[in-house]
Amino acid sequence: MAFNIGNFILNDWTNILIAVVVVYIVKYYFSWYTRENPIPGPFPLPLIGNLHQLGLDMGKGALKLQKEYGDMFEIFLGPTRAIFLNRAELTEKINNPTLKNNAFSIRTPPNPGLKELHLTESGIVFNRDLTAWKFNRRILNQTVMSPKFLRKSVEFTNQICDDLEKYWSSIDPNTKVDLAKWTTCLTADIIVTTATGTNSCSMVDYNNSLPNSVKVDISKNILNESLKFIDSIYTFVSCIMFYFSFPPFIRKYVPIFKTMYQKARDNDEWLDAELERIICTRKRKIESASLDQPIENNALNLLIVLNTERDINKITSIDITEPLTSMEISGILKEIFGGGMDTTRNAMCFIIYYINKYPQVKDKLIKEYEYVYGDLSKKIDVTYESLDKLVYTEAVINESTRLSPPVPVLFRAAAFDTEIGGYKIKKETTVFTNYIGIHYHKDHWVEPEKFNPDRFLKDGGHTIVKNSHLTFGGGIRICPGRHWAMGNMKILLVRMLTKFEINLADPEAPIKSSYQGTQHCDELGIYIKQKANA
Ligand code: HEM
Repeated sequence: MAFNIGNFILNDWTNILIAVVVVYIVKYYFSWYTRENPIPGPFPLPLIGNLHQLGLDMGKGALKLQKEYGDMFEIFLGPTRAIFLNRAELTEKINNPTLKNNAFSIRTPPNPGLKELHLTESGIVFNRDLTAWKFNRRILNQTVMSPKFLRKSVEFTNQICDDLEKYWSSIDPNTKVDLAKWTTCLTADIIVTTATGTNSCSMVDYNNSLPNSVKVDISKNILNESLKFIDSIYTFVSCIMFYFSFPPFIRKYVPIFKTMYQKARDNDEWLDAELERIICTRKRKIESASLDQPIENNALNLLIVLNTERDINKITSIDITEPLTSMEISGILKEIFGGGMDTTRNAMCFIIYYINKYPQVKDKLIKEYEYVYGDLSKKIDVTYESLDKLVYTEAVINESTRLSPPVPVLFRAAAFDTEIGGYKIKKETTVFTNYIGIHYHKDHWVEPEKFNPDRFLKDGGHTIVKNSHLTFGGGIRICPGRHWAMGNMKILLVRMLTKFEINLADPEAPIKSSYQGTQHCDELGIYIKQKANA
């Protein structure tokens, strides 16, 4: 028999490869079977873990696994072990409002994907450095939670609604429009304009791009390409779970993932360059102004002047005394844009969908607006003070986001060894709060599937179980933009519903949505008609 060296080498390599794979699989299942303190959950596969059982829609996947495994289950997101909490009482430690001895003060364990995005050592959402997180979070709180900012934001949002009215008034009532696209631009304008103090002109760009629209001149704009910028922020948000879940090897070398990875990297590069341009332009403007000239109080200016001689809001008690670098500012801006635009936009689509499915709710909203603002045929003045009076509107927002939370699931990581529900949780374990699962839990809500805003009214006869309504999360990492977002959604509802009849184009169709880091409304066809008396 002739000796074939080629076959020998080939067989050798094949055998080595098979041996490596077998050792990997044996090692994988050995550590899975012998893991400490196992919690019920589905059987994982090497490399991908339970990603195939969770599916592409994390909210739906979590609901499905909750039905199968109950109030607490564990899964593997690729190589990362993750525990899901599906019951309000179990989230007590996650929603601890004090930093001292807080077992869940950090969002994520060390994660190569998030590190590659520089998210674990900068910004807020994923920042694992608690000193830096506290500092950045305080800056953000001081900006977006201060009454001064919130009052100013009402002015901005009203101005943007004036623009919206202009565009919508010229739309033919028989033309189907996509509310998802309009709200993308509407919320981008609100968030970018309020955070930077300069108009972002996304709505006007979108309006002008529509074939039969009345074209409008574009004023001074902080963005070079508004629609590309929005797209880039959305891509950035949706890629975070991709980076989080897939190990570097899969991201970089497996064909389909490799393409997604390249797209994410190109997007990051473009977004970073655009933000760098915005920050540098504003820095130059501030530096060229005399020191006694007041600087407008918006997030971008505040971040630039922080710890400089122009800083009038000195944040004491925190040991960082240097001005922020452009990269740090860019990180925080990305989080304001990413955290604010997508969530508010999706919430607005879900709310409009629900109130159109339940016309009696829409009628009650109009009654509330008549009560608070008087004659609706006149120009309405939606003031900062009036927002607190919109109690039913707030109940509708709460109920819509209970049924369709814009963030359906989100994680934290154990900062030290702890315990939940009788199970030991080791330091650095990822723990998800299954917001949507808790929002639909039969033990917390009577007829959980039913849309009933009255359950959020004080005299509605319902008791809200602690930690059972978590649209904005809870504890020390609760959403800092919640008051801003709630104010914006109230203004948008008042302004849209008093001026326009809005009807679903296909009232029987379920809402089209997909999970993209947030629960994203893909499309919502509506007809818009200006009210006769408006
Ligand atoms: C309807 C609108 C919004 C929803 C549903 C929403 C929801 C959430 C949720 C569920 C969390 C996680 C909280 C937790 O871990 O307990 C969060 C965190 C966050 N949100 Fe929002 N959000 C909204 C609007 C905004 C806005 C307008 C901003 C802009 C400032 C923002 C910025 C952030 C940031 C920076 C965090 C991270 C906080 C931290 O880790 O310390 N969000 N949001």
